[in-house]
Amino acid sequence: MAVERTLAIIKPDAVGRGLTADIISRIHAAKFQIVAIKSLRLGKKQAEGFYAVHRERPFFGELTAFMSAGKAVVMVLEAENAIAKWRDTMGATDPAKAAHGTIRKELGESIQYNCTHGSDAAETAAAEISYFFSGAELA
Ligand code: CMP
Repeated sequence: MAVERTLAIIKPDAVGRGLTADIISRIHAAKFQIVAIKSLRLGKKQAEGFYAVHRERPFFGELTAFMSAGKAVVMVLEAENAIAKWRDTMGATDPAKAAHGTIRKELGESIQYNCTHGSDAAETAAAEISYFFSGAELA
């Protein structure tokens, strides 16, 4: 298995509910290295750019409004097989369908307010990481 990097976001729902430390503890428990981390508030346009792949979906407006409604924590996580491993740690998009013990099952409120984001493939991870981080931030 190759060492990979993936982009993780603690979304504004989870930050607003005071879940940042809990989620970071789960990241450490799952043995990821946090290569880079920052707290920021996405602008609406920045959220629309990040989720451009979903722009035709009926939930796009709500999603980008929600993602720009408060602070988020964005991180680059590194581990063997990090992309699939972080998706397993988060659980399915819909908390109601997520496996027991996953972040979304235990902390998520709905398919939209699902606490965290993770890249879904190697190319997406590279693009999503460079959306937020560059240069010495990734050293
Ligand atoms: P995420 O993994 O960040 O990818 C796209 C996001 O859109 C997803 O998590 C949810 O927050 C949101 N989402 C996906 N499906 C729906 C849906 N059916 N209704 C509302 N929001 C959704």
